[in-house]
Amino acid sequence: MIKFGVLISGGGSNLQAIIDAVAAGKLDGEIALVVSSKADAYGLTRAEQAGIPTLALCKADYADPLAADVRIASALQAARADYVVMAGYMRMVREPLLKAFPNRIINLHPALLPSFAGAHGIADAFDYGVKLTGVTVHFANEEYDKGAIIAQEAVAIAEGDTLESLEEKIHAVEHKLYPRVLQMIAQGRVAIGENGKVRIL
Ligand code: GRF
Repeated sequence: MIKFGVLISGGGSNLQAIIDAVAAGKLDGEIALVVSSKADAYGLTRAEQAGIPTLALCKADYADPLAADVRIASALQAARADYVVMAGYMRMVREPLLKAFPNRIINLHPALLPSFAGAHGIADAFDYGVKLTGVTVHFANEEYDKGAIIAQEAVAIAEGDTLESLEEKIHAVEHKLYPRVLQMIAQGRVAIGENGKVRIL
């Protein structure tokens, strides 16, 4: 069975959605390790409650970001992870991780890339006044929010929406879309073509 390593920094609601999908038999995989860039992330508690091994790092561990990624990569390899799933991980993945998991690191972004890249995708889309935003799942590469796109789902911004209500809508879509994409990966249905674009088989 495919093994995922999940990288988090915060609340871990997407981690929870993945845990729940595995438990419900909707995702034929296993979470081998959860790595957090913050020692007090609530997502670590979610992992522990689900019996998943964890590795918690802190700011000081990232003083040398390459060394941090060497450490994360070797922990993920020791856990026999096949894919690395970023779920609210607020750090760049750098060469040691990208080389250890070529085309096997996936990120979730709360906007329709290439629009509203960066750390505030939901608020940036809301403030801009677009009528349509959404969620993107893509491969991570050395450029922030720029890897090949695997899946996207649109979310309409309605007249009465507030930033808070939009955040709720986006998260609800994320929690469904991410496990679904991971299941496609588990089934071997996600390939990168020679043109660098993702093909769903
Ligand atoms: C999500 O909105 C994700 O798109 C973004 O960070 C948020 C993480 O939320 N990258 P959570 O920690 O999974 O609750």
